[in-house]
Parts: sequence; C-alpha cells; structure tokens
Amino acid sequence: MENNRKGVLSAPSILSANFSNMVETIKILEDASADWIHMDVMDGSFVPVITFGHKFIADMRPLTKLIFDVHLMVENPSKHLEDFAKAGADIITVHYESEVHINRTLQRIKELGCKCGISIVPSTPVSLIEHLLPFVDLVLIMSVNPGYGGQTLIKDNLKKIEKLVDIRNEMNLDFLISIDGGVNRKTASEVISAGIDVFVAGSAFFGASNPGEELKIIKGE
Ligand code: DX5
Ligand code: ZN
Repeated sequence: MENNRKGVLSAPSILSANFSNMVETIKILEDASADWIHMDVMDGSFVPVITFGHKFIADMRPLTKLIFDVHLMVENPSKHLEDFAKAGADIITVHYESEVHINRTLQRIKELGCKCGISIVPSTPVSLIEHLLPFVDLVLIMSVNPGYGGQTLIKDNLKKIEKLVDIRNEMNLDFLISIDGGVNRKTASEVISAGIDVFVAGSAFFGASNPGEELKIIKGE
C-alpha cells in the first residue's frame, strides 16, 4: 500500500464525533481535508464498550468518497468481515490478539477486495506479528489501551514504530504504519519522528475549534 502524498496521512476517528449527525461529521472531515476516516468498531467484549456496526458504516458510504479505515476491536472478527466489506470498508484492520487463525482472517479480507491491516495493543510486541508483515497493507500500532478516546499516549509504543520501519526496510516491504491513540498537537512531533505514515486522531480533531487547522498543526505544516 503506498502513501502517494508527501508527508503523513490523517485518519480522524469518528469515535469522537456526534453520531446523531453523520452528514455534518462528513462535512467537517471533508472541509478539513482529512485523508481517511477512521471507524472504531467495538463489541463490548474485546474492549469494554460498544460503538457501532456495519449498518452504520453502510449508511455513511454514499455520503463521501473518503477512504473508510475500519478498525475492528471485536472478538472473532472473521465472522463479520463480509458485512464490513459489503458496507464499503476500504481497509479492514483486525487485532492480532482477537483471533487464533489470524493469517486466514487477513487472507479473507484481501479476498473480499479490501486492504488488510493488523493491529497490536500496547502489551503485544512487534516480534509476534513479524511473520505477518509480508501479507499486510497496514500495521496499526495502538498507543493507548483500546476502548476509549481521549486517553494519554503511552510513549513506549513509539519504539514499535521505529522497529517496524527497520523491518520494512530490511525486508523490502511496503505496508503503511499507523498510530492510534493520544495523538494531538503536543505528541505529534515525537510520533511523526518515529516514522509513521498515518495517524489517527479522535478527540484532538473533533474537539478542535478548527479541525482543518488542527490537522495542519499535527502534521507540522
Ligand atoms: C481507541 C480508538 C481510537 C480513538 C482515538 O480505542 O481505537 O481510534 O478514537 O482517540 P484519541 O485520538 O482521542 O486518543
Ligand atoms: Zn482506532
């Protein structure tokens, strides 16, 4: 998967948006020139809370051409892949910790015509997903324990980004590296220096008085 643009891509997370007005939310994202829309699907089991499912995403699909970056924080994601692919997901990211036969799950995502991503929570080391890296389009590093927006970035996770950059160079791979959790104007420069291609921002984006300006500040533009 290529990052055709100069600089990093933004993926604002709608977890911090007003779910009762997604038309307005899409307008905010497009006006801010967001690159992707990050969608946090939570099942109340893999993570403590429940957010939304595939119908919510399908209903949003006609509203925009922006890339739908779907982050499945659910147990047994393989049961739901078809629903999310049909709903219009462009990228489906699953958690290494969520399923035993994760290779098969990643393969299925590709068969369904979507880009596939693998994510790890802060307690999972990069070494455990190293064998999967040749198969994935995206690696999503959780920089908070998943479940809630507005948490503080756990800096230790930035070392994982540096490690992934090294592995990608050594193995001559082309997956993108994304970071999720606690990215804001204060943490941005460290996060970007670590080597990310994409950043997720929820509370920093939707909590800003000028979301477009906030993205520029985070990107260092
Ligand atoms: C956390 C979610 C994130 C969340 C990030 O479990 O996966 O995508 O929306 O929120 P902020 O940017 O507020 O930390
Ligand atoms: Zn997320």
